[in-house]
Amino acid sequence: MRRAGAIVLFGITGDLAYKMLLPALYRLSADGALDLPVIGVAKTDLDLAGLVARAREACGEVDEAAFGRFADRLRLVAGDYRDPATFGAIRDAVEGTGFLVHYLAVPPVLFETVAEGLAGVGLNRDARLVVEKPFGHDLDSARALNAALLKYFDEDHLRRVDHFLGKEPVEDLLVFRLGNMLLEPIWNRNYVRSVQITMAEDFDVADRGAFYDANGTVRDVVQNHLMQLLAILAMDAPPSKDARAFIDEKWRVLRAVKDIDPADVVRGQYDGYLATEGVKPGSTTETFVALRAYVDNWRWAGVPFCIRSGKAMPTTDLEIVAELRCPPVSLFGGKVEPNLIRFRLQPDAGVTFDLTAKEPGRDATRQVPVSVDFTKVLGPMEKAYQRILSDAVTGDPRRFVRFDLAEESWRIVRPILDLKQPPLPYEKGTWGPAPAAKIAPGGWHEISTTFD
Ligand code: BG6
Repeated sequence: MRRAGAIVLFGITGDLAYKMLLPALYRLSADGALDLPVIGVAKTDLDLAGLVARAREACGEVDEAAFGRFADRLRLVAGDYRDPATFGAIRDAVEGTGFLVHYLAVPPVLFETVAEGLAGVGLNRDARLVVEKPFGHDLDSARALNAALLKYFDEDHLRRVDHFLGKEPVEDLLVFRLGNMLLEPIWNRNYVRSVQITMAEDFDVADRGAFYDANGTVRDVVQNHLMQLLAILAMDAPPSKDARAFIDEKWRVLRAVKDIDPADVVRGQYDGYLATEGVKPGSTTETFVALRAYVDNWRWAGVPFCIRSGKAMPTTDLEIVAELRCPPVSLFGGKVEPNLIRFRLQPDAGVTFDLTAKEPGRDATRQVPVSVDFTKVLGPMEKAYQRILSDAVTGDPRRFVRFDLAEESWRIVRPILDLKQPPLPYEKGTWGPAPAAKIAPGGWHEISTTFD
């Protein structure tokens, strides 16, 4: 793994660069963790001063001196990605900078064009290619895209972004699982009845109508972010801490996930979605999905992993709830509530154990539910994109998606993509269409309240 001497950022005037990449690059630079030139490429009328002004706006509140140092790193090559002259200009701009990271924050239809353009001027040698999601539209197109990129960059020099892998609470899941003897012995089919993963967003698709309509919830967040979460939750302990061992174990668990049964899926579309700019008339794209997945291995066979995600939900939350089996005998009478282990990942991070205790008082057998919770954040949380960009520079593959994992995820969700029935309508601000409630055995647990 070689450390890069420069970042070439394709799409530097685009939305992703504005919202995520420029602020993250500034932060890294201000923290002294980025000391290389950033060569922006875009089809734009802006000049370098215009780009710097845009970056300044994108970064919001800054330390002016630190921003000045960051601005000094910025360069701009304006040109069309289909024009070989653009790549000639990039070659001139990176002259003498050493190993390169080409970061493609551009629509996936341009990935191959850019890779080919780079190869045309020899900039695929001594370089890594980082591509944003979505990686493909389905299993076949992901394979075709991968084959196209492999013509110019080998797998060791390709990095597929899933920004969830840069989130602190997501990384903490595995450390929490394996760093405490408390959990691992019960983390299997003998003790866990079901696992529920909820990724809810209380906003609608807003100005992303055209993008969203071409994708839908399954392609937008289930195939990538939520399958990665499932893998980290269900994987075995890797034999060592190196990135390859970690990625191999994630692959092993995804390989064991059965193709989703269409009978285990409810798709929904919120009322009003069809009026969104960019959405096709009569579109059957889902804005919500609830599904059951099964990991068919010795640890997890028969345990439903229930996933639900949607736009226009009642809250914005990312939470995992593992429901344990009930004690075999209800010695103290009354209804025994199952223990729940909740991992809160967003907006705040923490773990909660929902347990049963004795109710204080004379009656020696009265039970009362108690929650033991703690926030896990031990220090200020770095933004996911800071980690992704800094790994792009060093080359550490741990927080990227190796192709065989992307492939398994596409295979798992394929039966949902093939569904012909239109999604069921739901009202904004609700948990999706009514039948989604039945996807989780015994119903979905309420999302825990934010603790501050
Ligand atoms: C993106 C999806 O990948 O992830 C969005 O395209 C979604 O639709 C977003 O809102 C959620 O990411 P985060 O980091 O804001 O939770």
